[in-house]
Amino acid sequence: MKTITFKDSQKVAKAVAAEIIKIVNQKPNAVICIAGGDTPLPVMQELIHEADLKKVDFSKAYFVGLDEWVGLGKETKGSCIQTLQDNLYEPLGLREEQIIFFDGKANDLEKELDRINAFIAKKGLDFILLGIGMNGHIGFNEPGVTIDSEAQVVALDEVTTRVMSKYFDEQLPLTEGITLGFKQILAAKNIVLMATGLKKAEIVKQTVKTKPTNQLPATVLKLAEKEADFYLDEAAASLLEEESL
Ligand code: PGA
Repeated sequence: MKTITFKDSQKVAKAVAAEIIKIVNQKPNAVICIAGGDTPLPVMQELIHEADLKKVDFSKAYFVGLDEWVGLGKETKGSCIQTLQDNLYEPLGLREEQIIFFDGKANDLEKELDRINAFIAKKGLDFILLGIGMNGHIGFNEPGVTIDSEAQVVALDEVTTRVMSKYFDEQLPLTEGITLGFKQILAAKNIVLMATGLKKAEIVKQTVKTKPTNQLPATVLKLAEKEADFYLDEAAASLLEEESL
């Protein structure tokens, strides 16, 4: 896994957006997956800006969701689909058929897994942008997760249930997430893991220093077919730099 450090989160966002734009300009019908969460928000703004300037055309691209809280849909502020809809898909003017997203409210989650698995099996992922949880989770692939799996439903880790209140206006009784699995993530043609801010510095250091293990899911990205890039700002990389002095 290659680490690439930029001065601040804006510069990271510009670099990540440039990667995505390059891919879509080369392959207009590329399949792109962008995580929900706070970290990718500046990347989304950058993509919208560049699309407004006609530097890229997303009208043939596909956007796959990385994950969703089981029980939530787009009417809940803080759900993954609401975050992506409001901050990326709608501003880009995407059509419904361009968006492939888990329905966290589906009665039959197995069917939901099958639907997403079938799409990815057919088209693959050209690019995936991932954030990292405070416990090192990737999507809802929590510590201890089965790594040889396609999309799956996973019980939320205790750290995730503690951190999740930052996304929601009220306390929600969430216990599970639905997520792409590592089998799919590792096969993506381009993988970018992004971390910004001082609070991520410790988990970034652990991820870089630790051999692949399902106990720290971000380390599993070291097994990717094509080397994953770890994009950091100086704050998130600060414990790495101290070590290398
Ligand atoms: P964040 O979430 O981008 O909101 O920090 C990352 C994650 O939990 O995967």
